Amino acid sequence: MNVLNESIIKARLSKLLKTRKMGKSIYVFNELDSTQDYANSLPKNESFHGTIVIARKQNIGKGRMGRNWISPEGGLWMSIILIPDFSVDNIIFTQFIGALAVADAIFENTKICCKLMWPNDVLINEKKVCGILIDVHVENETKKIVMGIGLNANIASSLINDYLTSHDLKATTIKEEYGNEVDLLFLVKSILERIEYYYDNFISCGNTSEIIDRWKEKSDMLGKKATVHDGNQMIVGHIFDIDQTGALLMKLSDTSIKKITYYDNVTLH
Ligand code: BTN
Repeated sequence: MNVLNESIIKARLSKLLKTRKMGKSIYVFNELDSTQDYANSLPKNESFHGTIVIARKQNIGKGRMGRNWISPEGGLWMSIILIPDFSVDNIIFTQFIGALAVADAIFENTKICCKLMWPNDVLINEKKVCGILIDVHVENETKKIVMGIGLNANIASSLINDYLTSHDLKATTIKEEYGNEVDLLFLVKSILERIEYYYDNFISCGNTSEIIDRWKEKSDMLGKKATVHDGNQMIVGHIFDIDQTGALLMKLSDTSIKKITYYDNVTLH
């Protein structure tokens, strides 16, 4: 993607995509403050379902919990608009869908097996290669989800790690783990195809089990000791399962069970 201009990227991507809805409308920018902000500002309208916004570089990339997201050229910075007709309670599953789709796409393009960290981080060798940010807009009956994907592809991890604190999960990149650069447009193609696959299955059968089972297969959190930062409180326990609502279940030392929701922050020991 690095040497191509915006309209060439758009044309090449449209030709590559075999999806029905994902990526049917494409916005590409050489530089943007944040693809997430741009996608958030687009109308909440059924016709925007599957629209993607890509920037070669972001100036003010946004991460979870109000953090910055370092987004130099060479990474894949993309936001996808989904207009779902399911209940807001199911929105957590879109994060799982995003993380699963990215892990599948990385495997398809590099044969590297990623691990998933609840709720939506993708790891290689215990370091974070991708994070997913979900913004939700609900107005009357219409819901709009913006799924932001920040994938450290063809960049040096030092560009990110230099800015992290000692509490943050270390970052890695595909280029460093694979030993080669990957074609970003092939990655986009694979990610969108996998999102469409998981999303359509989820919508057509309303069944969360496939997503939960796949997620469990790809996560090595189960059985691990973890700390949950819940407001000012720190709770330590063992992660043992995910329930049907997508919450992580942790057993505490007094054998009680804590349900961990999206808003809690989990650190593995
Ligand atoms: C996280 O904190 O783990 C989520 C990071 C999400 C970053 C992506 S990059 C594309 C999109 N645009 C943004 O400003 N943020 C998301």
